[in-house]
Amino acid sequence: MEIDRRLFIASLGGTTAVSLLSDEARADALEEYMSARLNEAVAAQTPAAQSTPPAEQFPTAAELDAQIETRPSRRGVGNLFTARSGNVRRLDKMPSNARLVDFFTMRFNNTSNHCLQSATKALRSGMTEEVVLACLLHDVVQEIIKVDHGWWGAQLFEPYISEKTAFAIRYHQALRFYADPANGYEYPDLYRRIFGRDYRPEPYIEATYQMVRKHKWYGEARMVTVNDLYAFEPGVVVTIEPFLDIIGRHFKQPKEGLGYDNSPVAHMWRTIERPDAPL
Ligand SMILES: [Fe+2]
Ligand SMILES: [Fe+2]
Repeated sequence: MEIDRRLFIASLGGTTAVSLLSDEARADALEEYMSARLNEAVAAQTPAAQSTPPAEQFPTAAELDAQIETRPSRRGVGNLFTARSGNVRRLDKMPSNARLVDFFTMRFNNTSNHCLQSATKALRSGMTEEVVLACLLHDVVQEIIKVDHGWWGAQLFEPYISEKTAFAIRYHQALRFYADPANGYEYPDLYRRIFGRDYRPEPYIEATYQMVRKHKWYGEARMVTVNDLYAFEPGVVVTIEPFLDIIGRHFKQPKEGLGYDNSPVAHMWRTIERPDAPL
């Protein structure tokens, strides 16, 4: 056991008081001091001591609804279009023939860390490459819109990825509201915080869940929610590098660059590239 010499001496009344003690009395005092510290350390490990932080009080759905007219923007607005505080910042010009990786490094600034962390978790737990890719892409569309982001996200990527990966992205949005403990998914506190503790999903979400859970690709969509991270992990550094091979194998990068390939979703990529365009 480590002894803080200064605190020990102070506990005995300072250096002068200690100098007045016999060697035997000093040894007794040291033993007493150590046993008191040990008791404190043990007490700190009891369940009662560890459960001291009060449980978080989650708002109700009605309380969150009442906040609508207290905000300058709606909760569903994409990250690129509004600053969390202060003003938005100038974006760097993107290269011509922009690739997915360029969007990760230059435009997915608010979502890339979360998605990279989720994909890293999926990679480490041995998921298929299609699931890893779905995790990597699952929330980045929130840079332009948050409402129904599963559907928007799947649409954004559909021309460039497999049907199965798009399915997983589209339906993770509905599945996240439904626990599946057998597969390692519990309803997260994050949703009690952002939707309200008594929130019930809309009927279209419930109907979607009922459809997806019977689908042959349920597992792929479920694994996006299992590998989704619901707590910000400070200090975790993740990069796109470990995913370059998977992107190369499973993402059909258009040679004209994303936004300029005349695909049905090219305008969505241009919107991410140029969110400052007034019209
Ligand atoms: Fe999501
Ligand atoms: Fe997510």
